[in-house]
Amino acid sequence: MTSSALNTVTIPHDRAHAIELLQITDTHLGERPHTPLLAMDTDDSLLAVLSLARRTLANVDLVVATGDLSDQGAIDAYLRLYDYTRNDYEHQFWLLGNHDDADMLTAAANQHERLLRNDIRIGGWQILMLNSQIPGEVGGRLGTAELARLRLGLEQASAEGLYTLICVHHQPVPVGSAWIDSQAISDAPELFAIIDAFPGVRALLWGHVHQEVDQMRDDLRLLASPSTCVQFLPGSETFKLDNQAPGFRHLTLFPDGSLSTQVHRVTDRKFTVDLGSSGYL
Ligand SMILES: [Fe+2]
Repeated sequence: MTSSALNTVTIPHDRAHAIELLQITDTHLGERPHTPLLAMDTDDSLLAVLSLARRTLANVDLVVATGDLSDQGAIDAYLRLYDYTRNDYEHQFWLLGNHDDADMLTAAANQHERLLRNDIRIGGWQILMLNSQIPGEVGGRLGTAELARLRLGLEQASAEGLYTLICVHHQPVPVGSAWIDSQAISDAPELFAIIDAFPGVRALLWGHVHQEVDQMRDDLRLLASPSTCVQFLPGSETFKLDNQAPGFRHLTLFPDGSLSTQVHRVTDRKFTVDLGSSGYL
């Protein structure tokens, strides 16, 4: 998963038609099914989120899963995530988060080769999956290889007249919580220096922060999304869980480079979570 080369896949799609994208993030599945995380059953909450997505979205062209797919890097967690999603979503692409194990995820994904693609072409859009994981560390960094891949991908997209959505695990901008903002992408200035040279980049989408963010940076949409399990309290200086429900994000990418997006949460049932917890790792 650490390749600096573009690993391109093209999903056939009429350029005149919008693209429907489902993002799930921070599923934190344990090695064994129904392992609790801060008292929440992460299999149960993921399955509830996937059920809501099935009922809400009539058509999904592709799924991006933006990291922390496992809680401890167990291969069984990745295999279970694939089992939970394979029947509904033919095209899905996964990123590493700080909780993930690159070798285990690769071993699981090698059986499903498309999971490892990092440069997705669909209709008039390119979706770039950037790896911000630093093995063994909680915080994020892209590094020279990923930044070089980003530049190469954007040069190709520009030449082909494609708009770009960039997906990554860690946040590239502060979200307003000191404890988690210390884990933001450390070379974000380099990331934005490249993005700023390519006006076709329309949005940056990430996970890690377990909360919704929707901001503009000039013409660039900045989006973070709820976890499919536990939520972090926005604005909290120290670690604190929120009582908001698990959810997913839906994005519609239009042929003219515009997009619409909405977060959906599971509101028709309650989940158990330890709101008094003071730690995450
Ligand atoms: Fe996470």
